[in-house]
Amino acid sequence: MKRAFALLLLLLFVATSSKGGGLQIVKIDTDHQSFVFSAASGKPLMFRYWGARLSEEDAGAILSACGREKSWELYPAYGGALYTNPALTLVHADGQLTTELVFSSCHSRQLDENRTETIIVLQDKVLPLTVELRFTAFRQQDIVMQSVTVRNREQGPVIVRQIASAFFSLKAMSYYLTHFHGSSNAEMWLKEELLTPGIKTIDSKKGVRTTHNENSCFIVSVNGPAKEDDGEVYGGALAWSGNFESSFQLDDFNMLQIRCGLNPFCSEIRLLPGESFTTPEAVVGYSDRGKGQLTRNFHRWARRYALAHGDRYRSVALNNWEGTHWNFNEKDLREIIDKAAEIGCELFILDDGWFGGKYPRNDATAGLGDWQVNAAKLPGGLQSIAGYAAAKGLRFGIWIEPEMVNPHSELAQEHSEWIVRSGEREIPTLRHQWILDLCNPDVQDFIFGVFDDLLSSAPGISYVKWDANRHVNNVGSTYLPADEQSRFWVDYTRGLYNVYERIRSKYPDIEIQACASGGGRVDFGSLPFHDEIWTSDNTNAIDRIFIQWGTNLFFPTMAMAAHVSAAPNRQTGMSLPLKFRCDVAMSGRMGIELDPRKLAREEIACLQDAVAAYKTIRPVVQHGDLYRLVSPYDESGWAALNYVSETKERCVLFAFSTALHTRTRLTLRLKGLDPAGYYKITEQNRQKGKTGCHAEGQTLSGDYLMKCGVGFDLAKPFESCVLLLERQDR
Ligand code: GLA
Repeated sequence: MKRAFALLLLLLFVATSSKGGGLQIVKIDTDHQSFVFSAASGKPLMFRYWGARLSEEDAGAILSACGREKSWELYPAYGGALYTNPALTLVHADGQLTTELVFSSCHSRQLDENRTETIIVLQDKVLPLTVELRFTAFRQQDIVMQSVTVRNREQGPVIVRQIASAFFSLKAMSYYLTHFHGSSNAEMWLKEELLTPGIKTIDSKKGVRTTHNENSCFIVSVNGPAKEDDGEVYGGALAWSGNFESSFQLDDFNMLQIRCGLNPFCSEIRLLPGESFTTPEAVVGYSDRGKGQLTRNFHRWARRYALAHGDRYRSVALNNWEGTHWNFNEKDLREIIDKAAEIGCELFILDDGWFGGKYPRNDATAGLGDWQVNAAKLPGGLQSIAGYAAAKGLRFGIWIEPEMVNPHSELAQEHSEWIVRSGEREIPTLRHQWILDLCNPDVQDFIFGVFDDLLSSAPGISYVKWDANRHVNNVGSTYLPADEQSRFWVDYTRGLYNVYERIRSKYPDIEIQACASGGGRVDFGSLPFHDEIWTSDNTNAIDRIFIQWGTNLFFPTMAMAAHVSAAPNRQTGMSLPLKFRCDVAMSGRMGIELDPRKLAREEIACLQDAVAAYKTIRPVVQHGDLYRLVSPYDESGWAALNYVSETKERCVLFAFSTALHTRTRLTLRLKGLDPAGYYKITEQNRQKGKTGCHAEGQTLSGDYLMKCGVGFDLAKPFESCVLLLERQDR
């Protein structure tokens, strides 16, 4: 029975049917999308279609009906008739620069009830070099991952100059690219632009913190700007924490070639005979129901397949960084933990400043690399703090930045050969620190050891914030041979992943946050090792509305750490109402980042209410489907979104006012509810009993709520409202 089911799925999801003249159709399907390629032995593999799901019959008709239309190779190497950006450029063993890939074979298999793998093998027309394209289709989530392996079967070394993970051609009247840009404190700002003839590139050459200033995620909307609930959109990202490049070439046929992969910048890879190289995965998805559906597909896929512990809930954390910076002692921490417990927090995270031997870490200039507890600050050690937190009902987490070293450290003095450097040139510092060379297995062992020692010495640690506060410049490795220096960018990231794999196999339950000066490591490559990301060092709530709007376009809300910080805000000096700051944090993974000892009694009470409310709505916010209602980018002066649980039993709505509204009032039509269901509305985190929603306490049908909506009194800047809607039996 099981085998028959698998066979049926195989026929449904991946059909490789033969046509006349040896021409084959290769079709890769998910529930709502299809890719169609055409292949014939010894001929280039042609891209035919990517869009809404096609029947087998219609996929077959592509060849007869569109046979004379212009089409591009699915994976064009430099050579043949190519005149766009190639997907692959290499130098053969005999020095030839030309590669002509032709179809050799295609195999597909059902991995389980949700995943199908298809491998297409291409080979050079003349030389013994093969390229394998591997597609993994996630049926229910409408997501496909693609990677590419090049195998050198030639007589001498082959130099891979550039290799894409995915390459697609689209055909439409116009193309709009949404991409993400920004720096530290201003991550993931959205920009949408019409693509005009030529090449638009988004990339990173930083090696580390590669999602400052661009992110590899993109959305291409065809025939008009991307809409929330309708229209065709194509989304993609490179699952990689190193240098990336995505390019969008609008050619003279008005076709768009999307190329997504490793950044070829200074990154040649030499393959000896018999060696192969596999790219990171590109993750792509299509929706004809706008970017809202695309987001929900990426979120569902990421929670199940790409995020560590995506099936758990995240705790409400209190982090001491903005509250104390490096200046604390054991007594301070105990007092902070007392307050955190009073507020209702579930996790205390001790940030930077707890370590250092001869060079104690009392500011950014010293101590990185020397991961011994600073006994002057914490005479009882970390386990004593962990034990105290546990006694108060809190878990304990700790900050580390193990890839880095201050020149003022014992590590830098003992292991100068471990530092990324370009020969004898001066090693530039950034934030007073250097970076360790993760290409070197000894450095990998050291970093694993830092983590391992920490967890063995303080078993009460159940959460680690892993930071990385600089990027690479003056690249160079004393470990890599002189003629292999260009491997650095790939080997660094692979070295990092190797350490993470060792950590994850020894400590499968530990929670890890990816921080890199805020959101500098927000990518699907790092996600499997992490439970969440530190979205931004900018905790100012108004900026956070924009930063979080961009971040959870692709990345799941449960992974998006959002902390309530003090007023005035450390980054901007703005003093926003505490309720507003709480509500913005509650729309992500809520936490707190301030010194709670400095709060007035009413402020503690306000945080207690917010944390209690968050615990009520957390299952929906963290595991529900996201529907965006009003974008802060639309300049209406409002922003709003709602989350709906998978069963549509519960919904949580957030509405924020970002400007003064003199006469206009906000009415929001909800999304994603069951039209036949009835929902009771209860405002959460109300301040002094005041309600901002006209329908508070009412029970209304899903149909009514989605067609007529509800009104809000959110006229002043920085007013906000959180609603819980619960389905009622009628
Ligand atoms: C970075 C992080 C912050 C904090 C500091 C500590 O800036 O993004 O959250 O951990 O380092 O030095």
